[in-house]
Amino acid sequence: MLIPLLIGVHVLGVVLWIGGVSFVTMIVFPMIMRMEGSIEKVIFFQGVEHRFAKIAKLCVIIVGTTGVWLLFITDRWDALFTMHGIGITLMLLVWIFYVLVLLFEGRFFKIIFKGEAQQDTAKIFLRLTVFHWVVMGLSLLAVFVGVIAGHGGIWS
Ligand code: HEM
Repeated sequence: MLIPLLIGVHVLGVVLWIGGVSFVTMIVFPMIMRMEGSIEKVIFFQGVEHRFAKIAKLCVIIVGTTGVWLLFITDRWDALFTMHGIGITLMLLVWIFYVLVLLFEGRFFKIIFKGEAQQDTAKIFLRLTVFHWVVMGLSLLAVFVGVIAGHGGIWS
């Protein structure tokens, strides 16, 4: 009973978090790109990211805790970094990447919105859009491979 329950909570965390990333990538960024003034763009973007970062942090904690808990109960540590455990390996890598981005988010934004950003906001938002598409793609890949591998897929 505990394992399905943990997977359920784990997937709910994933849905909220990756759903949010997808919304920002496919809805918010195109809206920002169409906005007129640079200041308006930066203020709107920081408002959205600041609010979403709180939800993302909570989801990262829930997904990480339930994921490690699942690995612990099912004792599948040795499957990590093998073809057989490709699903959980991808999940772990994507998770570590998000933790790093969220931990250094403040520093990251300070760098991109100072200096060059004041001169060319459009260029910076284009880079941020590409970055979000890559991050969303990797996350969806982790879900896709995770589900296939978790259901006796081609790598098991
Ligand atoms: C610390 C990070 C993580 C760990 C240790 C972890 C581990 C696990 C484990 C052990 C399972 C149970 C199914 C299985 O054994 O294959 C699972 C399920 C799942 N995980 Fe993760 N996970 C982590 C992060 C993530 C992330 C970041 C995503 C999405 C981007 C994700 C998506 C999923 C999905 C969709 C399932 C359900 C698979 C199914 O259909 O059974 N996980 N995870």
